Parts: sequence; structure tokens; C-alpha cells
Amino acid sequence: MGRVAGKVALVTGAGLGLGRASSLLLASEGARLVVSDIDEGLAANTAAEIVKAGGEALALRHDVSKPEDWPAVMAAIERRFGRLDVLVNNAGIAIAKNVEDTTLAEWRRTMAVNLDGVFLGCQEGVKLMKKSGGGSIINLSSIDGIIGEADLAAYCASKGGVRTLTKAVAVHCAEQRYGIRCNSIHPGYIWTPQTETYLRDLGTLEQEKAKALSRHPIGFLGEPNDIAYMVLYLASDESKFVTGSEMVVDGGYLAV
Ligand SMILES: NC(=O)c1ccc[n+]([C@@H]2O[C@H](COP(=O)([O-])OP(=O)(O)OC[C@H]3O[C@@H](n4cnc5c(N)ncnc54)[C@H](O)[C@@H]3O)[C@@H](O)[C@H]2O)c1
Repeated sequence: MGRVAGKVALVTGAGLGLGRASSLLLASEGARLVVSDIDEGLAANTAAEIVKAGGEALALRHDVSKPEDWPAVMAAIERRFGRLDVLVNNAGIAIAKNVEDTTLAEWRRTMAVNLDGVFLGCQEGVKLMKKSGGGSIINLSSIDGIIGEADLAAYCASKGGVRTLTKAVAVHCAEQRYGIRCNSIHPGYIWTPQTETYLRDLGTLEQEKAKALSRHPIGFLGEPNDIAYMVLYLASDESKFVTGSEMVVDGGYLAV
């Protein structure tokens, strides 16, 4: 039996990086997957990989910042699987700019994807999970939801919002006895397309990578499965007493 056998899980931004790795791991542990992404082709690739490995997956085009996309995604899940047990609000963007250089349009786009997207996901997720008898919502925040980084002003603000929104959702669902848990994950630097683009935008990739590395006491940057295993734990019933928590997975970044 897999650790999440029989559960239905929606992962947003599942085409690349952490969303892709989490989807593949959840599927390998028995979950039925809904993989959504703003890029339909990327979502389809992840779904095809799951199916090839013997799992079940539905791919959907989905822009998490668009309120009108969410009810359509939830309706498609209900039609295909009749329930939702796990929601991973993973889709996110990072613009490498400090507070002086960030335009209002960049600020608003970051908030729309990283914070509106998670808010809408929690709202729609709770609706369908209530009908399913409970569930687990997992929100991707960041170490930058706890500390500030000069070159990520809007990103830090959005991820800080995800951190405390998560707690508000957790306490509400607990008080209402919905059986729905909600937790945030705070990764350090994980080697994904987002991290590579961010470091390239800052300067010379190798130099920026070395600087990033020096801030992780463990001596290496994370790989997507380092986060996917935390997603798996929070998705499974092993974490039934965990709600409103902030799970830091950062190679010691915040410890110094
Ligand atoms: N990689 C890291 O080091 C790191 C660290 C801390 C937090 N995070 C967070 O983890 C999450 C995943 O990061 P990643 O590194 O895998 O990113 P990534 O850029 O590698 O992949 C993000 C995926 O989200 C999709 N996406 C982008 N905008 C979207 C939208 N509006 N709607 C739906 N899908 C959209 C992209 O198409 C892509 O497939 C993000 O929320 C990110 O902020 C990442």
C-alpha cells in the first residue's frame, strides 16, 4: 500500500520543478493526480509520465491567478474523481527586483499568482474537501516568507502572506471541525527552472550559485524531491496532527 493510496490530489504549477516532482512522488505512492499548469503542454507531459509509470492523472490548463479558472478546475475534478483529498498550491513566480526597482505591475502580477492564487485555491479547495469529508491543503511559501531578501521584494511580501493565510485557513477549518488541515512549506534554494532564472537575472550564474550555496550550511542546494517528500508527508495521514505549521526545508539557511 502506498502512503497516499486512493487519495485524489491536485497540484498546481505541476509542469516543472517542485510541482512536477511532487506530482510524480504522490502518484508513485498511490494518489490519483490532477496536474494543472498555465502551460497545458507541460501539464500534459507530467500527466503522461505518471500514466507511463502505471498511475492515473488528469492534466488541466489552469492559471491560478484567474478566479474564473478555479471553479472549472474543481468541476473537472468532481466529474472525474468525485472528490478531492489533497491540494498543493504550488504555482508561483519570482521577479528578481528590489523594492526601488519593482514596478507596480510587477508587484501586482506577483501578488496575483503567488497570493491571490493561494487564496482562491484555499477557498475552492475547502469547498470540495468539505464534501469529501476532509483533506490536506499544502501551500508553497519560501524561506522568503519568513525573512527578507533585498532582490525579491514582491516575492517576499507574497510568500509572507502565504505563511499567515495558511494559519488562518488552518484555524478556521479546525474550529469548524471540517477535518481539513492546512500547512505551509518553506524551501531554501532548490535547483529548478525558477531558481536558475532568478540567479541568471542577478548576474553571472556560476557566481550567483556559489553565493547562494554559501548561505546553506549543509553545503549543497536542494533538489525537487527534498520538497516533494515533505509534500508527501503532509498529504498523508501520517501528519494527521499537523496543521497551521510552517515546515522549513532549507539545508540550515534560517538556522544561522
Ligand atoms: N525553487 C526554489 O528554490 C523555491 C524556493 C522556495 C519556494 N519555491 C516555491 O515553490 C513553488 C514552485 O517553484 P519552482 O521552483 O518549481 O518553480 P518553476 O518556475 O520551476 O515552476 C513553476 C511552474 O508553475 C507554472 N506557473 C507559473 N505561473 C502560473 C500560473 N499563473 N498558474 C499556474 N501555473 C503557473 C509554470 O508554468 C511552471 O510549470 C513556487 O511557489 C515557488 O515560489 C521555490
